[in-house]
Amino acid sequence: MPAVLRRPPGPAPRFLIGNLPLFNSDPLAIYTRWAREFGDIFYYRAAWMDVYFLNHPSLIEAVLVSQSQHFAKDKVIQNSRWFLGEGLLTSEGSGWLRQRRLSQPAFHRERMAAYGRTMAAYAEEMLATWQDADLRDIHPEMIQLTMRIVAKVLFSVEVKADTERVAGALNILMRHTSGGRMILPPVLRHVPVPAMMRVKRAVHELDEIVNRIIRQRRASGEDTGDLLSMLMAARDEDGSGMTDRQLRDEILTFLLAGHETTAVSLSWTWYLLSQHPDVEQKLHQELRQVLDGRTPQLEDLPRLPYADKVVKESMRLYPPAWSLARTVTKEIDLAGYCLPVGANVVMSPWILHRDPRFFEQPEQFNPERWTAETAQRLPRFAYFPFGGGPRLCIGASFAIMEAHLLLATIAQRFQLRLLPGHPVDALPSITLRPRHGMRMSLSKSVTKN
Ligand code: HEM
Repeated sequence: MPAVLRRPPGPAPRFLIGNLPLFNSDPLAIYTRWAREFGDIFYYRAAWMDVYFLNHPSLIEAVLVSQSQHFAKDKVIQNSRWFLGEGLLTSEGSGWLRQRRLSQPAFHRERMAAYGRTMAAYAEEMLATWQDADLRDIHPEMIQLTMRIVAKVLFSVEVKADTERVAGALNILMRHTSGGRMILPPVLRHVPVPAMMRVKRAVHELDEIVNRIIRQRRASGEDTGDLLSMLMAARDEDGSGMTDRQLRDEILTFLLAGHETTAVSLSWTWYLLSQHPDVEQKLHQELRQVLDGRTPQLEDLPRLPYADKVVKESMRLYPPAWSLARTVTKEIDLAGYCLPVGANVVMSPWILHRDPRFFEQPEQFNPERWTAETAQRLPRFAYFPFGGGPRLCIGASFAIMEAHLLLATIAQRFQLRLLPGHPVDALPSITLRPRHGMRMSLSKSVTKN
């Protein structure tokens, strides 16, 4: 048996600091360069942290699925516990499993048709405020739309009046967790600098909104059958229910995780369509043939396969969760190297999705690459926008349906064009936001036969 080596190859470290790609203005370019140079697994030290970067589907499969018991959520997620609390995204072990089982029924297939109706209705409501020749930043529009949807379908509340407050608070939190700040120790939050005070105020704003949702439901005592009702009805073996703090953590997690990523994905989709009129034209043709101007519903989606491919291809080029990471909890051998306890393991859909070993002409936006044959040929985890294994995104089917449905509803009414000169740049924070928003001009599309 070959001896287990200590360290994979990687970039030369600088004195004391090692390598700090997240502090660079373009970390995605650095990771891509290193991945191409050093191969399937590479190592670097970021200040005091050991980082192992995995760049092959089989290694990613090992971490997320077959050896997942050796790993816990990474430092960035651990650092976000002070404001996200112990919701489904951040918790571990038996507490996580219990919450996962409790929440799962809210994502069952039977519920999706009702969710689809809310999605399409809210999209139509937004479109009623859009005019031909409007100039709009499309990203906040997508944020508002997806936030209203997730609050309505999972908690039966209308948050239209709160979307700006939530979005403003989230902007602050995202800025605080982008670039190098992602890895700063949480102790820094106690330093009373203006940036930190803003972050605390943002968390307070979110708490107020979420606590109001809990208070109102407790007061009404109603069982609406939604996720909030399921969480409230849950009982431990000793008969005790979830505390307000536990409910707050879950609701906040679903409110944030359930809208930001889908909005990001749609913003990038509008951008890609505006740059590829040939794709857009095919999409319009499909919408015209199948819908003829009618608002789509869930049942229509199987007859809109091209729209589905557009969504899939957009998530390939711009995966909203651009990187996933774990911390090693039990020493493990991987690809012939020994990964020590406490080491960080990073896996990036951005890098894998643009790897020429798996995708021909990977930089090209080509929805037609998604044939049944591609799906068969592609190794599992060459494409993984929703992660995988036990911590697979619980909202994956929900999100795919939502993106598909909103794309169809909006594209058949409006054509969106990037404003000339508007800078387009991906900001790798917890999600992959468009750094400068997405300023676009709208024109009414004609998709009726
Ligand atoms: C395009 C949209 C979305 C993308 C790309 C996405 C991506 C992801 C990824 C990659 C993970 C796994 C993270 C990891 O393993 O470290 C995750 C987890 C999660 N997502 Fe999503 N997500 C999306 C939409 C949604 C929606 C719509 C919801 C809820 C309605 C949601 C709720 C969650 C939750 C609660 C978790 C934690 C699950 C657990 O650990 O058990 N996501 N998401």
